[in-house]
Amino acid sequence: MTEVSALHLQRLNQVTERLIASSEKKSMSTLYSHPWDEPVTEAPYLRRKERISIYGTPYWEKATEEEIQRLSLEEMVTWWAAFVHLESLVVEYYMRELNNDAFDDLPIVRDYMKHFIKEELVHTLVFKKAIDYFGSSLYAMPPFLRSFYDDNAGTGRYPLMAVYLTMVIEWIADQYQRLDVEADYVHPMAKAVVQEHWREEMRHIKWGQQMVQSLISTDDEFRRHAQELTPVYVRQLIDQGITNVECFDRIGFADPAFQDHEALLDAVLYSEHRQQLNSELIRPLLHYFIQAEIYHPDYHDIWVSQGFEADLMPLLKKAS
Ligand SMILES: [Fe+2]
Ligand SMILES: [Fe+2]
Repeated sequence: MTEVSALHLQRLNQVTERLIASSEKKSMSTLYSHPWDEPVTEAPYLRRKERISIYGTPYWEKATEEEIQRLSLEEMVTWWAAFVHLESLVVEYYMRELNNDAFDDLPIVRDYMKHFIKEELVHTLVFKKAIDYFGSSLYAMPPFLRSFYDDNAGTGRYPLMAVYLTMVIEWIADQYQRLDVEADYVHPMAKAVVQEHWREEMRHIKWGQQMVQSLISTDDEFRRHAQELTPVYVRQLIDQGITNVECFDRIGFADPAFQDHEALLDAVLYSEHRQQLNSELIRPLLHYFIQAEIYHPDYHDIWVSQGFEADLMPLLKKAS
C-alpha cells in the first residue's frame, strides 16, 4: 500500500469540485423536474420495442400487442424498483460512512457526498412516484442487493469496493435506461424520468471512476479483487437487467409457453439479437476497464468464460 500522490489528490479534488458546482447549479426536484400533472392517456410504451426482452425470440409472435405494451411498462418498472432499493441502500450506507468519519482526510469528497446522498434520496422518491404514475407497483428487492454493502465493505483506508461497485451498477443501469427510451413513441414521462436521472448519474459515475483512479494505489487488495471479480459481476448485472420473470406473471400472458420460465429466460438471454444489444451496452465500460487497469491479463480467462471475448479483443488490440 502506498500513499496517495499529490498529483492524484489534486486531480480528484478538481473533478470533485466541478461535480459539486454542477450539482449546485441544477439538480433534480421531486416536484418540478417532471410533467406529473399530465395524465397517462393511452396505453403507454416505456421501453423501445427492440429492447423488450422477448424481441428477436419466438416469444414475440406468441404475445399480443397489448401484452407486449404491458411488458414494456413492467420491464421498465422492474428497473425503477431496483433503483428504489439500491439507492435507499446507497443513502443509508454513505450516510453511515460520513457519520463514522469516512474520507475525513478528503474534505472535498465529504462535501461532495452530501450532494450525492441528497440526489440519491430524491431519486428514490421520484422513482416511487413514477411507478405510481403508471399505475404499477414495486418489485421485490433482487437478492444480490440485500447484503450488497456488507459483502463489499472496504479492505483499505477508503471504502473503494463499495464506491467502485456502486459506480459499475450505476453505469450499467444507465446504459440500459438511456437506450431503452430511445424512440419517438416512448411515453414522455418515462423519457423524463430516465433522462433526468441519467443527467445526475453521469456525475456519480464520473466521481466513482475518479475515486478509483486516484486512490487505487492505496489498496492492493481492492485492486486484485476488482480485477478478478469485475467480469463475473458485470455478466450478472447485464443478464439480470434484461427482464424479471415476475413481469411475465403480472401480465399473465395467454399463451401457455410463457409459463415455462426456464425456457423463456434461455431464449431471451441467448438470442442473437440480445448479443448485439449487450455488445452495444458493454463497449464503453470495457474501454474504461482496460484504461483503468481493471482488466488485467492474469484474469483474461475469466473475461472469456463470462462471454466478453468478442467485445474485448478489438479494444485490447487497439490499446496495445
Ligand atoms: Fe440515482
Ligand atoms: Fe447514483
